[in-house]
Amino acid sequence: MLKYLPVLIVMGVFGVAALESQVADGVRGVLAKIRDPFRSTTVDGFVGESRRDRRPKLTGAEYEELASVLRDVYSGSIEAWPKPQLDEGVLFEEMGLVGEVDHPKDNPTSREKVLLGKRLFFDGRLSGMGQMSCASCHIADLGWADGRARSLGHGAGQLARNTPTMLNSAFSKKQFWDGRAETLEELVVAVLTNPDEMSNSPEQVVETVQKIKGYREQIKDVFGEDKVTIEVIAKSIATYVRSVVSDGSSQFDKFLAGKQDALSDSELRGLHLFRTDARCMNCHSGPLLTDQGFHNLGLVYYGRKYEDLGRYNVTGEAEDVGRFKTPSLRNVGRTMPLTHTGFFDVRGMLNMYNAGMVDQKVKPGQEEDPLLPMKDVLLKPLHLNDQDLDDLEAFLRTLTERRRRDMMPVLPE
Ligand code: HEC
Ligand code: HEC
Repeated sequence: MLKYLPVLIVMGVFGVAALESQVADGVRGVLAKIRDPFRSTTVDGFVGESRRDRRPKLTGAEYEELASVLRDVYSGSIEAWPKPQLDEGVLFEEMGLVGEVDHPKDNPTSREKVLLGKRLFFDGRLSGMGQMSCASCHIADLGWADGRARSLGHGAGQLARNTPTMLNSAFSKKQFWDGRAETLEELVVAVLTNPDEMSNSPEQVVETVQKIKGYREQIKDVFGEDKVTIEVIAKSIATYVRSVVSDGSSQFDKFLAGKQDALSDSELRGLHLFRTDARCMNCHSGPLLTDQGFHNLGLVYYGRKYEDLGRYNVTGEAEDVGRFKTPSLRNVGRTMPLTHTGFFDVRGMLNMYNAGMVDQKVKPGQEEDPLLPMKDVLLKPLHLNDQDLDDLEAFLRTLTERRRRDMMPVLPE
């Protein structure tokens, strides 16, 4: 261990101050270029501008040495891993394998209920126009999202936000980017009746399902009730959603389960960066890599076309302007494009974080505006170099799980 000491010291002294305003200028320039949703956000101009603020690279041999030190310290049990670097007061949970789902007391799961929920999930007859189902936008193959920047909703109008994955939604304390639903049952009714999404009324959904003999029989079997209600429909679909959870198939899960060579040297350095100098664990912690909190990354577009005030729309609190739910990072390599805006890919996100994200520009007259969005104080320029960013990206890709297909079930008549 002693012979690696110089490497560790070198790694330690680099987290130092730099020309923050220059970086911020760089980001403004870059944002101008990356508004185009379909363009990869790894923008060369920006990388060039801030490169001189980045911590120097080690040599190839030093990076190898570093990885071998890290392999030693991370091969023990997770309790013995180096502690993450966190700011004061940050709530944090250690990383780990995703556990068992806790089903609500008034909606226990069963094989039959999951199957019924799955049929309803795939059934376009539940929507106002009779064509759109949950599975139109949450597609197993595409990481349970839809691969679009913004989905097309009812009548092919574009929705305001990117479709998040529904993998592990069973564990979310609040649902939607702004947390406006508390439970999955509530979410299902909200989506079915949202005029931009499935655009139906509860009465109409019930009437449609009531008319289908196969559903009437299954609902009787599962719930013991002759009457079809919006509650049993919501409970069934919610139970199906709760069955869509991480399956331990990612390389990172294999590493957590004790397979020491499941991570390459680069991925291992990325894991360590994620926990330390890259500051990610201040918000992305626990088995799902989210604090389940709401933060403002500066993607508010205040006063502009894409303005979205996020959590503020739910709470009415000025401090919540521009805050969005911290997403889980599991499967993040497959759920692009990213964030509520659908504007970024993984490398684009890393470049933005490296620059400390975007500061809100205060225009004349806005100095006293109580709703002026404030970027989260946990975001700071990171000064990571290209190798660091490669390593971090490599680590994020170890969270990718086995590709799953969800075959369309036979729908009852
Ligand atoms: C037209 C596309 C579309 C359809 C159809 C759709 N969703 Fe979504 N889903 C979205 C979008 C967009 C969001 C994010 C909306 C927001 O946060 O404001 C979302 C959010 C969610 C979330 C929350 C994820 C999170 O991290 O908070 C779950 C769970 C979900 N949908 C399940 C469903 C179910 C179940 C159905 C069918 C009843 C459904 N969706 C139908 C697009 C769709
Ligand atoms: C201040 C809290 C915070 C910190 C620190 C933070 N994140 Fe995030 N992250 C968020 C929030 C909140 C979002 C969603 C933002 C939005 O949609 O507006 C997000 C989104 C993401 C996404 C997009 C995920 C998706 O499914 O859309 C990735 C990837 C990501 N973060 C990775 C990282 C990495 C890597 C780090 C460390 C370099 C990091 N984050 C640090 C809070 C944070």
